[in-house]
Amino acid sequence: MAAFTSADPDDRAAFDAHWARVTADPGIVNRTIEFGGEVVGHVASFEQGGEREVTYWIDRAHWGRGIATRALRFFLAELPTRPLHACAAADNAASIRVLTNCGFVAYGTDRGFALARGAEIDEVLLRLDH
Ligand SMILES: CC(C)(COP(=O)(O)OP(=O)(O)OC[C@H]1O[C@@H](n2cnc3c(N)ncnc32)[C@H](O)[C@@H]1OP(=O)(O)O)[C@@H](O)C(=O)NCCC(=O)NCCS
Repeated sequence: MAAFTSADPDDRAAFDAHWARVTADPGIVNRTIEFGGEVVGHVASFEQGGEREVTYWIDRAHWGRGIATRALRFFLAELPTRPLHACAAADNAASIRVLTNCGFVAYGTDRGFALARGAEIDEVLLRLDH
């Protein structure tokens, strides 16, 4: 589903190194998502090209329960920066829905090379202004 991933998502050492950088970077706001006392994902925001973006992942076993939508809503209430940006692969309907559920509006499209697809793909650009 997620298109813009690391080169090899199964490389645990690379993942741990990446996660260590993410959690040490004061410019990245990163929150653990808990559901029923269990860790089920994370929601984060980071700067890219002078714009603040949001991103989120939910454990597949918990998809379809409204968790991403609720987690992003809580996160947006905590994070005052506006506008906030997001981009999703055009075929990632669930992610686009999570964003529009939370008030993001699609304003354009772009093309980007997606490691997870091994190809250039269409992406949807979204923004939250208020
Ligand atoms: C995208 C993702 C975060 C969604 O998490 P989730 O907790 O299942 O999302 P929600 O339950 O809040 O569902 C959001 C909406 O998407 C819809 N949806 C779920 N799967 C869908 C699918 N395959 N196609 C279309 N819509 C879908 C739901 O029905 C819901 O719509 P509704 O609010 O109108 O009822 C999760 O699938 C995920 O972690 N995917 C891998 C990582 C990823 O893609 N991250 C985003 C990168 S941009």
